[in-house]
Amino acid sequence: MPDKILLLPDNIANQIAAGEVIQRPASAVKELLENAVDAGATEIKLILQDSGKALVQVIDNGSGMSDTDARMSFERHATSKIQTIDDLFHIRTMGFRGEALASIAAVAQVELKTKRADDDAGTYIEIENSLVKRQELIAMANGTSIAMKNLFFNVPARRNFLKSNAAEMRHIVDEFTRVALSFPQIFFSLIANGQQVFHLEAGSLKQRIIQLLGHTYNAKLVSVKEETDYMNIYGFVGKPETAKKTRGDQYFFVNNRFIKSAYLNHAVMNAYQQMIAGDSFPMYVLFIDLEPTQVDVNVHPTKQEIKFEDEKIVYAFVQAAVKHALAQFSVTPALDFDLDSSIQHLPSVQQPFTEERKSAAASTSIFKGFTERNQAHFIEPGRGAELRNWRDFFESSEPVPKDSFGGGGSRESAVNSLQMNVEKEGDPFTLPDRRAGIHHSRLTIDDSRFTQLHNQFVLAETETGFILISQQAAHERVIYERLGDAMNGAVATTQRSMFPVTVELAQADCVLLEELMSDLQQLGYMIEPFGKNTFVIQGTPADIEQGNEKIIIEKLLEQYKHFSSELKFSKRETLIRSLAKQQAIKPGQQLTEKEMQALVRDLFSCKQTNSSPDGKPTYLEFKTEQLEKMFGR
Ligand SMILES: Nc1ncnc2c1ncn2[C@@H]1O[C@H](COP(=O)(O)OP(=O)(O)OP(=O)(O)O)[C@@H](O)[C@H]1O
Ligand SMILES: [Mg+2]
Repeated sequence: MPDKILLLPDNIANQIAAGEVIQRPASAVKELLENAVDAGATEIKLILQDSGKALVQVIDNGSGMSDTDARMSFERHATSKIQTIDDLFHIRTMGFRGEALASIAAVAQVELKTKRADDDAGTYIEIENSLVKRQELIAMANGTSIAMKNLFFNVPARRNFLKSNAAEMRHIVDEFTRVALSFPQIFFSLIANGQQVFHLEAGSLKQRIIQLLGHTYNAKLVSVKEETDYMNIYGFVGKPETAKKTRGDQYFFVNNRFIKSAYLNHAVMNAYQQMIAGDSFPMYVLFIDLEPTQVDVNVHPTKQEIKFEDEKIVYAFVQAAVKHALAQFSVTPALDFDLDSSIQHLPSVQQPFTEERKSAAASTSIFKGFTERNQAHFIEPGRGAELRNWRDFFESSEPVPKDSFGGGGSRESAVNSLQMNVEKEGDPFTLPDRRAGIHHSRLTIDDSRFTQLHNQFVLAETETGFILISQQAAHERVIYERLGDAMNGAVATTQRSMFPVTVELAQADCVLLEELMSDLQQLGYMIEPFGKNTFVIQGTPADIEQGNEKIIIEKLLEQYKHFSSELKFSKRETLIRSLAKQQAIKPGQQLTEKEMQALVRDLFSCKQTNSSPDGKPTYLEFKTEQLEKMFGR
């Protein structure tokens, strides 16, 4: 029997290995952007055709390569970034495997142009199927341009696996956002099919976050910064009101590398406990810096998962740092500053802290760095009390531009819509049926006295006991039914804006908005396409306060996407559910007596009073008899 084992030709071996690194155009975007960052570029441009399927080109003004290096760079395991295995544990660069360019060259046609500052001429290389087709000298500016054309032209099965242009573009924007967030000092631009999508001037992290994640976060970011000898953390978390129903804007970077970590995400979520609804996700962009020896970045082909030497310390540190930051903008003065219970179970926490251990610990560098001021959960006296409740928090001292009202915008319009109803119905104290209160099949509610609890619930006395109303759930129900009626009746009244606002949207959102346009019109919105992914909002429903139109539309689209991915409702049903969710008053919003009366009256004139559109109770009823029993009477 002859022997059967053959060595695979290089180009096939490369193609197979490329599968791990280059799965879609976005993987090439990530690798090429990271190479440009590693090359010390201060300006990086990304050019795409056909969502990267036809072209991904990255142009940088970094170090460039010599002609030999240019050719070498496409060899597998060819890297200038590490030399020994030991170097792997001191990595400060994004790359280290020497695999990215070899992988790209195995599955696409590549053109490289590169020139170092010291060289008179640059090098041009054309490569296809891992084979160099052409190499020549060219005149060019310093830096490097790598163009990857026709991805998977030689692996049709994989090309067929690529998703729609919109889906691939989303992946690309995700990768671009991660790199651009982690290097705000670098200028980045993204041009897709000749149209500029991003133009990000070099600036601060805060500016970069707002450029990339949206103006909604303007004046809504809380700075996180803690330093110890062991590790540092810095970045921003969103104020609780900016938490979203989708897990969109959450970013962890370890030594500037974007990573996915459910464990650290849990640490942040824990820090937000009781400040946001259980089903919403806070925004964060957090950078953790620690000695490269304390992390292993080589555990996943895309480097997006890493292993910490001591994961529990990092968890405790992240959680405490975020809690500390949020405490500075104290929402609830009674925040719990205990470290998470899982930390309490650490052997080091459980064992008795003997004198011997105490002195050993005191001499470690981590202890020394962790002075009281540096300590993550140390709170400077007085700071928290300055902003004691939500209203102060909402009206924080930072100036809020009119078009970036964020979550607060919805408060204004929500409360406004309540006020509108108060005005419509006149002063409740002069209503003829005032003494009789609000009647609903089983309930008679005394409408002369409402109490708001924790800016979240409304307490009302009934003939037989009392009810506790969730202001948010109740208002959602009210808006939902009102919109439902409007959808089936005459077109709602529109108030024309004195200053029409333009809103620019991502491609996918434009398609969505166009789809919803006629229904939105029925509800009183007047929106017109203005070309180039832009829309003009000419008017809004009469009961919505003007000034936040842009945010309202953006948030509406976000909410709509959330609902349509999770629930199977008709387009109209999804739309009115989204609007109700987005316009309703939220917990933390203080209501006047009149607003409470309007809310309760509106709720009890709904067709269905006891649940919000998504099935949560709008109120709980407590009967005097039950209470008496509870008191043993
Ligand atoms: N834009 C660039 N400017 C200058 N040199 C570059 C550039 N892109 C690549 N190189 C050089 O080519 C080498 C190979 O790049 P490649 O991306 O394949 O590997 P790497 O970055 O070293 O490691 P990894 O596979 O982890 O990305 C790099 O080590 C670097 O020396
Ligand atoms: Mg690389």
